Amino acid sequence: MRRCSICNLGTFIISHIIPFNRSYITGLELKNIALAQKAGALSGDGKFSRECERLLEITQRVPRSLVTHSCTAALEMAAILLELRAGDEVIMPSYTFVSTANAVAMRGAVPVFVDIRPDTLNIDETLIEAAITSKTKSIWVVHYAGVACEMDAILKIATKYGLSVVEDAAQALRSTYKNKPLGGLGDFGALSFHETKNITCGEGGALLIRDLPASEQAEIVHQKGTDRRRFMSGKVDKYTWQTVGSSYLLGELASAYLRAQLEHADDITEMRRHLWRRYHEALAPVARSGLISRPSVPDHCVHNAHMYYVVLADGIDRSAVLAKLNAAGIGAVFHYVPLHSSPAGARMGRAAGLLKHTDAISAGLIRLPLWAGLSELDQDRVIAELGKVLTD
Ligand SMILES: Cc1ncc(COP(=O)(O)O)c(C=O)c1O
Repeated sequence: MRRCSICNLGTFIISHIIPFNRSYITGLELKNIALAQKAGALSGDGKFSRECERLLEITQRVPRSLVTHSCTAALEMAAILLELRAGDEVIMPSYTFVSTANAVAMRGAVPVFVDIRPDTLNIDETLIEAAITSKTKSIWVVHYAGVACEMDAILKIATKYGLSVVEDAAQALRSTYKNKPLGGLGDFGALSFHETKNITCGEGGALLIRDLPASEQAEIVHQKGTDRRRFMSGKVDKYTWQTVGSSYLLGELASAYLRAQLEHADDITEMRRHLWRRYHEALAPVARSGLISRPSVPDHCVHNAHMYYVVLADGIDRSAVLAKLNAAGIGAVFHYVPLHSSPAGARMGRAAGLLKHTDAISAGLIRLPLWAGLSELDQDRVIAELGKVLTD
């Protein structure tokens, strides 16, 4: 067996494809789904939805949460609740998924893109103040890879200028900033339970509401702009159209699945953290050789191991590296195309200054397979192949 000169692991014969992601199954999902089916009430806001919401309120330390059919939906709800309108500006990173900006653009507001920090790949908090104008209404942060943005500095700026803060915590369930769970620090937080996330129900999300008074309006937006929830709890004798809203509920079958996953969120996160640490240690020599840089987690942040990525050194052809890894059966992928350079972002948003880290890092980042259940043997194969491809 040939050994990689950097990481000293052997090369492996391709026996099977190592997928980029595979959802963990706790074993309780089908039991819950059967219970939901037997109960016969399959629409949203049912027993399992409410149980998920109570669990999230405890773990995320927020007074109110509402489960939704996606994180995208939760972000749209935040935009409605903040009453964003045409011409308002919202500061956010360009290095994020489209949903962060779409929710804002759907209200006619303008995403204003700020560069990221080269260490955490989160919005650079030191650049936010310079991007504020008389039209700025809100700051939307994204906790990339489940590592917290610098929330103290961001919340201080928001208070100084009277701006709201939304946390796109799609990737950040079970991550903390100075011991505080992410998603509960801004006015609103949005979680994702999409198949690619640590905890999943296929498609799903949640809106976290920091201040209880906002929850009544959130419940209305959640239920198509009606006060149906109040009607269902007997507080009003009929329900009517109250405001702009949509059907943001999570159906009961998906909630039943999610309930099972949430019960095991700590174990699933620990399994991922173990694998994350193994990648980090094994790739240290490759990083020392200058071929890659590895993720960086500030001491005051606990992350949930949502992702293990490496950033290739300048001059290394990412497409070639990915093609070789994929050919070797390793499901490595890249993302994001920065929003400011995408057609819609260029049309509907604007960049605040140069986004040099966003541009450079997005061109060189590779995500490696990481999921609860990935065997150490397969992980060693990923590490060895990466070392080999980089040194060939
Ligand atoms: C940062 C971020 N925001 C929003 C989303 C959208 O999540 P969902 O697919 O649950 O709508 C994602 C999904 O990948 C994401 O990574």
